[in-house]
Amino acid sequence: APHPLDSAAVLAWYDRHARTLPWRTSPQQRAQGARPDPYSVWLSEVMLQQTTVAAVARYFARFIELWPTVADLAAAPLEAVLVEWAGLGYYARARNLHACAVAVVDRYGGVFPDRAEGLRTLPGIGPYTAAAIAAICHDEPVAVLDGNVERVLARYHALPVPVREAKEELRSNLRCSVPVRAGDFAQALMDLGATVCAPRSALCMLCPLEPGCAGVRTGNPTGYPIKPSK
Ligand code: ADE
Repeated sequence: APHPLDSAAVLAWYDRHARTLPWRTSPQQRAQGARPDPYSVWLSEVMLQQTTVAAVARYFARFIELWPTVADLAAAPLEAVLVEWAGLGYYARARNLHACAVAVVDRYGGVFPDRAEGLRTLPGIGPYTAAAIAAICHDEPVAVLDGNVERVLARYHALPVPVREAKEELRSNLRCSVPVRAGDFAQALMDLGATVCAPRSALCMLCPLEPGCAGVRTGNPTGYPIKPSK
């Protein structure tokens, strides 16, 4: 690929600076071979669509307490799910959440598909969410591109066009940089975008991608991504 990312540096940064989030397995759990639970990862990813990590944490804990498995959630009345969702907004997400739980139980006996391709066939799971679950839970080597990661890559490549004109190019380039620890790599880029390569400030001296970053070499990394004109 043109200009691959230094994924080893990204993973080393993640090993030191990963955020502790309720749906992540801790480094200690990971050292003992534990893998993230697909139900928890799916639930958190759906809640995180259009909602911040800080706002989601409380709702996530409540859902897991009320409905510890996807079968429990599928068996709950939709009305109860909507009541617990109140405050998160975008109620179509809650309806799809319930429909997806029902589909996982009916079609797959309560076990989420392992691969992004299978996950994408479920209600409310688009390309981003499918890739995130497959990478985080099973290290499937797929590109996981959300808004934060798009910004990191637009800066890294000093992308000369708006992101929307280059999504497939960004995706195929990123795919070439995905290491064996695909899930950690995906979450590392999300954390970098949230904490280091933020929308209005870029803390480049803290960034593991700084040595190869074309945006830094332009002298104006926050000038990327380029805004669409109109
Ligand atoms: N935003 C969406 N999914 C996330 C994750 N797994 N880690 C951090 N931020 C996220």
